[in-house]
Amino acid sequence: MCGIVGYIGKRNAVPIVMEGLKRLEYRGYDSCGIAVLHDNQMDVEKIAGKVDDLQSRLAQAHWASEIAIGHTRWATHGEPDQKNAHPQVSMSGDIAVVHNGIIENFLPLKRELQNNGYNFSSDTDSEVIAALISTAYAGNLEAAVQEALSRIIGAYGIAVLSTREPGKIVCARYGAPLIMGLGKEEFFVASDVAAILAHTKDVIYLDNGEIGILTADGYETLTRKNESISKEVHRVSFDLAAIERGGFEHFMLKEIFEQPQTIYDAMRGRLLPQDGNARLGGIADDIGTILHADQRYFTACGTSWHAALIGEMMFEQFAHLPAEVEYASEFRYREPLVDKRSVIFAISQSGETADTLAAIQEAKSHGATALGICNVVGSSIARETKAGIYIHAGPEIGVASTKAFTSQVTVLTLLTLRLARMMGMSEEQGLEIVESLQKLPEQVEWILNQADRIAKIAQVYAKARNFLYLGRGVNFPVALEGALKLKEISYIHAEGYPAAEMKHGPIALIDEDMPVVFLAPKDKTYDKILSNIQEVKARKGRVIVVATEGDKEIADLADHVIYVPAALAFTAPILNVIPLQLLAYYVAVERGCNVDQPRNLAKSVTVE
Ligand code: M6R
Repeated sequence: MCGIVGYIGKRNAVPIVMEGLKRLEYRGYDSCGIAVLHDNQMDVEKIAGKVDDLQSRLAQAHWASEIAIGHTRWATHGEPDQKNAHPQVSMSGDIAVVHNGIIENFLPLKRELQNNGYNFSSDTDSEVIAALISTAYAGNLEAAVQEALSRIIGAYGIAVLSTREPGKIVCARYGAPLIMGLGKEEFFVASDVAAILAHTKDVIYLDNGEIGILTADGYETLTRKNESISKEVHRVSFDLAAIERGGFEHFMLKEIFEQPQTIYDAMRGRLLPQDGNARLGGIADDIGTILHADQRYFTACGTSWHAALIGEMMFEQFAHLPAEVEYASEFRYREPLVDKRSVIFAISQSGETADTLAAIQEAKSHGATALGICNVVGSSIARETKAGIYIHAGPEIGVASTKAFTSQVTVLTLLTLRLARMMGMSEEQGLEIVESLQKLPEQVEWILNQADRIAKIAQVYAKARNFLYLGRGVNFPVALEGALKLKEISYIHAEGYPAAEMKHGPIALIDEDMPVVFLAPKDKTYDKILSNIQEVKARKGRVIVVATEGDKEIADLADHVIYVPAALAFTAPILNVIPLQLLAYYVAVERGCNVDQPRNLAKSVTVE
């Protein structure tokens, strides 16, 4: 949830680290800081606030150094104030640490250090790492880091500077992402490739327990047992443009508008138009295991969990394969019936969500086959799972997930198609589904062309305090997703319900102040949804409907209609969610909210 970036080389590290922090700010943004080494002295500047504020502070200081580490924070232990911001510095000032993750046993360690006379100056768990390294130091920084980490229980990605060895950054990872970037006579460490992409595309993904040592002349990687290992160098496949706003006011809007392309990319090379089928190379060897499994689980959090709900419905309806969806945070604690005949699909945009990783580990510990559906290549979930399917949505920077959701559902649709054909779906039906998938990018474009109209609708409702989202079948998870989008970026309370459930409780909330968003495509429940709309109107509720293009009847009932092209049940959720993303976006803009950095949230939730 925090961002780490470090540089060592021949250039001034300060602007490089500050630029990296700016690019990482979407990961956590309540406080930030930087440490540099200059003439064997440690200079640290940190603030509660944004990277731009830190930047202004540094502009007056004119720091220059060839080595620096920086951090942008999402508070876990201790308020987001200056003392709790990172880097955390040891009592004697010799060690500076930036940390992403949580040290679970920090309290007993802290007490032990305090009993030995150590004074702490923050409320963070991370300061314990600096203290342990400082007290363990006996002439070799990486040895001191190893020694300190051997005492720690929890998750960490860290980068460490020391005045005692000023030409070195030591970094380490366990359960929180960390990469090393390799440039020409310069090296980087970062929690996310976005931080260093302006300088290099060559990266090494550290694995759990590994340590990296960076100097201006080179790098080394060590195992937990202190053995030197050679790591594969990966070339990042996307460009800087992918992590820039490209003329859009917000990343979220850019990412919404990228969807015709990202949906296409999720299908590229995977559709078999002649056969009415799909091919998914990443799980080709596991398709039989999926088909014959005793239990199939989807596990995920947030938006990815909504995609999982759609996956479950498609598996059952079209492939006739039962599946269950479980919040990753609940999965490990509910003692699920998982064994070696179970398959668990972990769905995650970031591939770093701690709860989802924990669910995978739980399933694997019972012998289950864990498969990933991830966006970020080389992420922890991608590496912890036996095999998987990348969604290829490109970097998603907006905290509110948009393009990842439609790509996840697209990939789940391909997977369902593949399984359904094996389970007896006719070639004819397969061809129909392939055809409808192929139409998606154009259809999404058609919906996006209504953005200005949706912005006007958003103006009408921007002052509402509550929203209800209603849909049925595959559109119920879409309703949940619409409500989540609205609440996380506009802070309006919103709930999603299966439309027919309205009369079992939520109807009590309906009055003239309650906007209700209906998903009402022309499908088998259309007439029932019409009745639900009537029920809301009868209680003076205000109704926004996402309806099938050409549906005139519904326009007479609703206050506002947003049309989407007619679609099969297979592809409908992908289309129907687009107006809801736009509605949430424009409501948040109208309310003056910080769309890309909503309060209290972070892009990737790497703590349980
Ligand atoms: O990276 P993941 O897909 O694992 O993240 C899961 C959730 O944290 C994420 O979807 C979150 O709910 C988003 N902010 C939703 O917009």
